[in-house]
Amino acid sequence: LNKKFMKPYIGAIDQGTSSTRFILFDKNGEIVLSHQILLTQYHPHPGWVEHDGNEILESVNKCIEVVMKEYYEKNLGSKDDIKAIGITNQRETTIVWDKKTSKPLNNAIVWCDTRTIDLVSYFNNKAKRIIDENDIKTSFPTDSDIDDAESQSMVKLNDKATTTTTTTTTKPTNKREESKLESKNFLREKCGLPLSTYFSGLKLKWLFDNCETVRDSYKRGDCLMGTIDSWLIWNLTGGKSHMTDVTNASRTMLMDLKTLSWDKELCDFLEVPIDILPEIHSSSEIYGLVNNTMNVKEHPLDGIPIAGVLGDQQAAMVGQMCFEKGQAKNTYGTGCFLLYNTGNDIVHSRNGLLTTVCYQLGKNSKPVYALEGGVAVAGSGVRWLIDNMAIAKSSQEIEDLANSVKDTGGMYFVPAFSGLFAPYWRDDARGVMVGLTHHTNRCHIARSVLESTCLQTYEVLDAMQKDSGNKLLELRVDGGMAKNNLLLQIQSDLLGLPVVKPTSLETTCFGAAFAAGIATGVWKETMQFKIGGKFTPKLDEQHKSQKLKEWKKAISKSLDWID
Ligand code: G3P
Repeated sequence: LNKKFMKPYIGAIDQGTSSTRFILFDKNGEIVLSHQILLTQYHPHPGWVEHDGNEILESVNKCIEVVMKEYYEKNLGSKDDIKAIGITNQRETTIVWDKKTSKPLNNAIVWCDTRTIDLVSYFNNKAKRIIDENDIKTSFPTDSDIDDAESQSMVKLNDKATTTTTTTTTKPTNKREESKLESKNFLREKCGLPLSTYFSGLKLKWLFDNCETVRDSYKRGDCLMGTIDSWLIWNLTGGKSHMTDVTNASRTMLMDLKTLSWDKELCDFLEVPIDILPEIHSSSEIYGLVNNTMNVKEHPLDGIPIAGVLGDQQAAMVGQMCFEKGQAKNTYGTGCFLLYNTGNDIVHSRNGLLTTVCYQLGKNSKPVYALEGGVAVAGSGVRWLIDNMAIAKSSQEIEDLANSVKDTGGMYFVPAFSGLFAPYWRDDARGVMVGLTHHTNRCHIARSVLESTCLQTYEVLDAMQKDSGNKLLELRVDGGMAKNNLLLQIQSDLLGLPVVKPTSLETTCFGAAFAAGIATGVWKETMQFKIGGKFTPKLDEQHKSQKLKEWKKAISKSLDWID
């Protein structure tokens, strides 16, 4: 067994929305050992999603403990053979804790939680007032630009890309007329994000407004804030490092994309304190050493450096080796996230996409940015069918049910449980099922849930192609749901593009391990992308456009629901 793996090893923690895992990789990037633990989801009110910070930490330590036990039992090496660990995590999820006790002051507010919907209105009004009072004009993309988007690509991407070709020409942006800045885009030029329930800044404001424990701890000077990476770094280093990386920081609405530092103006606008935020570091450097933590007596990784940190979607870009401008990947996890590498350029979308940091591999390296389109509900839609609707017992059974019918019988499911993310950014949208008849059964419903992920991905990819002026020639995919071959076939049919998956779907974890390996000299150059499966389009154009038309109608019902 030992011969199969090449030393040294690198470990990676993937703390995701649905589960936590720890994977040990060898020098060739092969998985040596792994362990996964599911995470409890708390829904105390409709639209609220919480995690218990202590449970998150325990799950991380348990996964490491199980892997290390097996490591020694199988005689795979010594502790010295593990050079470093990386951390990747669900992004935006916000936690505050007391630095004296290292105990959370509240449950973590998860990225897809919509409790801050009233704060979005409050800040929209605040922005509107400032825009009106100061008559602020912008040449920044607004919704009214969308129709014109195909002819007005913001940038020319893809000089070196292997998977895309340029299809439109760039019209000079300085010819565009200035218009009044939209309130939801008030902070966007600086932080790349629209005002939405999704990002950490508003969640932090909610915690201060609603939790006395948080305010008290802040008054005592003991309150610290973090995304899940910071929470883990703090605890794994025994409270020595309060840090985050540029990719996670770029999801808070509090970091300036250009300077890669917390921004006083952003914090002041969102009414949150700047002095409780973690130090921002590159994605690949030593953050600290694992130190006997407060929660376990002797940590199995004691003394090993934490040397790579990336938000999970950015980690998947690194794990899929999407290092060239113009390369893209889609990860099907709890949600589904498509990222498009824009190189060292900060590109602002005019089609509802976010601008985010993709990675910064080392203190002295230039940051690489990405355009991102996120779909809030993908794997969590399948889980909802299993846990809430009891339609099936496992995701395999959902695939089997969906496979047993040739289509959805004309029904559509828009799983807008947390509103609709890209390209709509409508926090008030809600889930709908339309087109039901006596013919509809659970097989059609199962298929409609898979289709909804693919249809939403279609819309994100469409926006991305309009923004970039380039057409992708194939889409790289990964994530737990990418095990589902039917899903990937439907995806390829709807996109009219080949969909390619790598041999290992653990690209998120590998991305974090890779960043840690770069920082510690285990890896010096990129690795080859190994194709594990390819799906090519089979659906004819007529059926495809009919489907897309009907989907748009279903979306309009979801958007209309509250009004
Ligand atoms: O932005 C949220 C994202 O990071 C969550 O990822 O894999 O837990 O769905 P995942």
